[in-house]
Formats: sequence, C-alpha cells, structure tokens
Amino acid sequence: PTPLAGRHFLKEADFTAEEFRGLLELAAELKAAKRAGTETPYLRGKNIALIFEKTSTRTRCAFEVAAADQGASTTYLDPSGSHMGHKESVKDTARVLGRMYDGIEYRGDSQAKVEELAAYAGVPVFNGLTDDWHPTQMLADVLTMTEHSDKPLTDIAFAYLGDARFNMGNSYLVTAALLGMDVRIVAPKTYWPAQEVVDRARELAAASGARVTLTEEISEGVAGADFVATDVWVSMGEPKEVWGERIAALAPYAVTMDVLRATGNPDVGFLHCLPAFHDLGTAVGRDVYEAHGLQSLEVTDEVFESAHSLVFDEAENRMHTIKAVLVATLG
Ligand code: CP
Ligand code: NVA
Repeated sequence: PTPLAGRHFLKEADFTAEEFRGLLELAAELKAAKRAGTETPYLRGKNIALIFEKTSTRTRCAFEVAAADQGASTTYLDPSGSHMGHKESVKDTARVLGRMYDGIEYRGDSQAKVEELAAYAGVPVFNGLTDDWHPTQMLADVLTMTEHSDKPLTDIAFAYLGDARFNMGNSYLVTAALLGMDVRIVAPKTYWPAQEVVDRARELAAASGARVTLTEEISEGVAGADFVATDVWVSMGEPKEVWGERIAALAPYAVTMDVLRATGNPDVGFLHCLPAFHDLGTAVGRDVYEAHGLQSLEVTDEVFESAHSLVFDEAENRMHTIKAVLVATLG
C-alpha cells in the first residue's frame, strides 16, 4: 500500500508538505507513463462515485478519464441524480455509497458536507471543490508551476489577483504556506481570505519558511513573481446581483499585459483554474457584462491567448493529479 492508502482528500492542510509533494511526484510519474504508453492500471475492479451538486467540466472529466485509465469505473451523480440533500441525509448517503464504492468524490457548496461524507462513508472521500477549498486544483497548479520553472518549489513566487475570499484564494494561500513557497494575495482588503485562513497560513509558513504577503498594491504584489493567477470574480452559487459590486471592486486587479510587465519577469506564466471570462465576444457571460457596461474581465483576452498563458497545461494536469490522488488513496 502507498503511504496515503485509505486517506481522504478534503483540504490541503490535512497533509504534510512531504505528502503533498509525494502526490505531485506520483502525478508526474503517471503523466510520463501515460505519454509513453506504459501506464500500469492500479485500480482494476475499483468503483468510484462522483457526486456533483455544482456543474463541472474539468473536474468531472478528470475523475472519469483518470479512473478509466487506471481500470476503475465511475458513476456520475448530477445535482438531481440522487436523493442526497433532498430525501436522504448526507450521513445516510455516505453509508449507502460506502457499501458499494471504493471512493467517493463530492463537489458542492459546503465543506461541512464533504467532511460529513468522509466521516460516515468508510471509504476515501475526495473534495472536488467546495466554497472553501479546491484541493485537487492545487495539485494541478503546483505541478504546472514546477513544470514551467527551473527553480526548486520553495523558491517559486506567485501572485493571485482578484476575489481571494473563496475557494481559489483560500487554497492558494494555504497550499503555498504548506509547501514553503512565496505567495502574494493581491486584492482589496475586503476580498482577502478570512482571518482564520490567514492565521492558518501564517502558522504553516512559520514551519515551512513560506513567504506570505497580503496586499492591495498590485506593483508590490506582483514584483518578481514567476506566476500570476486569477479566478472568476463571481463563483458558482453566488447570486447574479453581486456582479456589479465585483466588477467595481476588482476591475483594477484584472490581469492585463501591464500587470504581467509589472512582475519584471519576461517569462512570467499566467494561471487560471478555468472556466474564465476573457473574451467579451463569446456568448459566455455576455449578458452579465452587458448589464455592467462591458468593462473589465478578470483577465484580458490578450493575456489569456498569449505565450504566458499556461491554462491548458494546467487543465490537463487536473487529470494527472486527480489520477495520483486516486492511485495513492485507493491503489
Ligand atoms: N477548474 C475547475 O474545477 O473546473 P470545472 O469547474 O470545469 O471542474
Ligand atoms: N471560484 C470558482 C472556481 C471554479 C473552478 C467557483 O467556485 O466557481
């Protein structure tokens, strides 16, 4: 058995830096093996349930392809596809699915729900995104950074601009703190992670040697960064009405070519978990933006389509890293 056999994957801070790095190394090995056509299926005969109370493209497909590559089967349960949360409690659902499946993925709003599933399932439970954390995304993002940098992980600096009080901001802060990286949260103060998340990150940083910065100043925040990341300004589950205030507050923090230049790093990489608003010409989000004067998106199309953009490597890495989680916990 691997060192993580039988473990849940619920949030980054549940792991030591060594365990987290171990998953990254396993993901890199699995990626290389898939490319070389030499992948060994470690999960033959395993069954994995995928509960999605919010929609997904990458996470769902990553779990399904990773499982298939490894010889496991999956059952996809969409928001209306099971009784959970309607006719049946989380606790009962956990105990039923735990009798049939070897692992359970959950995506939804509540971290408490995924923790409750884990408490009662009796099999490993994987967080496919909650309002608080997006830990599988962190594996993909850190893997992408290491692939596009010559530096050791602990020397890598990245800045996250935008809404930092939700899953991506929280996860970036804590992950970097855990791994000993240089992380800068660059946002208006009201969009910084909650104080308890910042406190946890500072604790982890004290142990790892991470450099943790929270700032409203873009030039200070991005100076010397190896990577600049952002996320949508309005997350799944938030009401449409907040778009106006978000655009007003976060427009100065949009990732533009000027922001990339302000890093002083000609090779700076751009990251975005996706889906992204970057092109006002597409139908996606256009109604919302039209209602707010078609201003400012979290990233310009110029940056998104530039050589700096690593977003599709990052998206591909969702699959390799989720595969690593499955192999490590179920293999
Ligand atoms: N980045 C990410 O989680 O994408 P999906 O919402 O498509 O799964
Ligand atoms: N913050 C975004 C991330 C999507 C992958 C959301 O929760 O919608």
